[in-house]
Amino acid sequence: MNIAIVGAGYVGLPTGLALAYLGNDIVFIDVDSEKIELLKKGKIPFYEPYLNEMLNLTKDNVKFTTDYKSGLKNISIVFICVGTPADENGKPNLTNIKAVAEMIGEYRTKKLEYVVNKSTVPIGFGKMLHNLINKDHTSKHIKGKNYITVVSNPEFLREGSALYDTFYPDRIVVGSDEINGIEAVSQLYSPIVNQNFTPPSFLQRPNGLSAVPIVTTDLCSAELIKYAANAFLAMKISFINEIANLCEKVGGDINEVAKGIGLDSRIGRKFLNAGIGWGGSCFGKDTSALIEMAKEYGLKLHMIEAARIVNYNQRTIIIEKLKTQIGNLANKSIGILGLSFKPNTDDLRDAPAIDIINKLLSEGAYVKVHDPVSLQKFLSMTNKSNIYGNTDVYKVIEGCDAVFVLTEWDIYKELDWQMVKRLMRGNVVIDGRNALNRELLIKSGFIYIGVGR
Ligand code: UDX
Repeated sequence: MNIAIVGAGYVGLPTGLALAYLGNDIVFIDVDSEKIELLKKGKIPFYEPYLNEMLNLTKDNVKFTTDYKSGLKNISIVFICVGTPADENGKPNLTNIKAVAEMIGEYRTKKLEYVVNKSTVPIGFGKMLHNLINKDHTSKHIKGKNYITVVSNPEFLREGSALYDTFYPDRIVVGSDEINGIEAVSQLYSPIVNQNFTPPSFLQRPNGLSAVPIVTTDLCSAELIKYAANAFLAMKISFINEIANLCEKVGGDINEVAKGIGLDSRIGRKFLNAGIGWGGSCFGKDTSALIEMAKEYGLKLHMIEAARIVNYNQRTIIIEKLKTQIGNLANKSIGILGLSFKPNTDDLRDAPAIDIINKLLSEGAYVKVHDPVSLQKFLSMTNKSNIYGNTDVYKVIEGCDAVFVLTEWDIYKELDWQMVKRLMRGNVVIDGRNALNRELLIKSGFIYIGVGR
């Protein structure tokens, strides 16, 4: 198939490269010319494991362009994978995606039959997309047009394991109000559904996986599945964080509690890791979009609102814990290990570390930061004078009164704690992800503070 992917970002690149690996010819269209130039040179513009290797394997059947007209030539399916960030009212900003729809409508050729939306959009947007693309353009570029079928194919991949999740998803959701749309997109995914492709060496198939369930449904339900899934996961994390806060008062250990409830197959152990809460581009944005959408129908989403309150409180509670140990933060040196919202990504969107750093600075602390991949990105975003960053984690730790671990990168789990002890001025380690070896730290003479233990 000749497929265009509009938006060469965290969702578009893994999706397009996976489809290329499965034998399709892919054109990536993105308005960001810098990004397209990098990709043409074989470089991935952000950090995501194995995308470089995948680009290398598929380079003969992928192209990159900023130009819709040449990009859409010969294309029969377009995937829309552009961002829908929240606006100042918490609603998704649809400016980009509407512009994309206009461009597709303008430059589509007679060959184009399907537009598949992967971007997270308000429920009902698929219908609007359909009208935008099928509206009678005053186009000078093409003579005659086909009717376009709109399909929703929400994305569930996680940053940091984007390719793995694309090849081995828990399920694929394909929604359309027209059966031909469902059939065409299901057919495209059949190698993944049936797991009958040879995996690349760096993405071995999980043991026992022989087929992936595919949910075919209507446009509106597909759009809602995406929001409901993210809201549920966000609530699950906030639930365990709330129980973790209770554990601290009553004396339990949240890891034991998570294990004990997680073994109930109705609950499951995944997404029950207590800590400083979720960040990233999805959970915050999607929960607030869902709340705002429901308001328009006169509904209040109590549980989802509560999940947000619990989540963002975790970022304050962790600082209060520090203050109970070292008192006033003015002129204290605080180390921050981990800036990205989670390991294996350089993504800083809604990263808890950023909020925590700002709160520390506002209380007069001097902040020293480290992250194995997002340090430079973070430093270039901040112009504050009382922040020091270094790629050498021990230089960051040196002289600190307390150190926070805010992203569970492996490098922090493997620190030489004897050396850390010698380098620090104080002895407080705050493990915002419950990722460190608590016993070892206590034995090494630290005051260890986790979440819910
Ligand atoms: C999420 C969804 O998982 C994915 O399906 C959707 O398509 C996009 O949003 P992502 O944001 O990449 O993916 O990361 P995810 O692994 O889900 O983690 C989100 C946040 O929750 C991270 O900050 C992570 O540290 C936090 N988290 C996750 C917890 O605090 N505890 C957990 O148990 C799990």
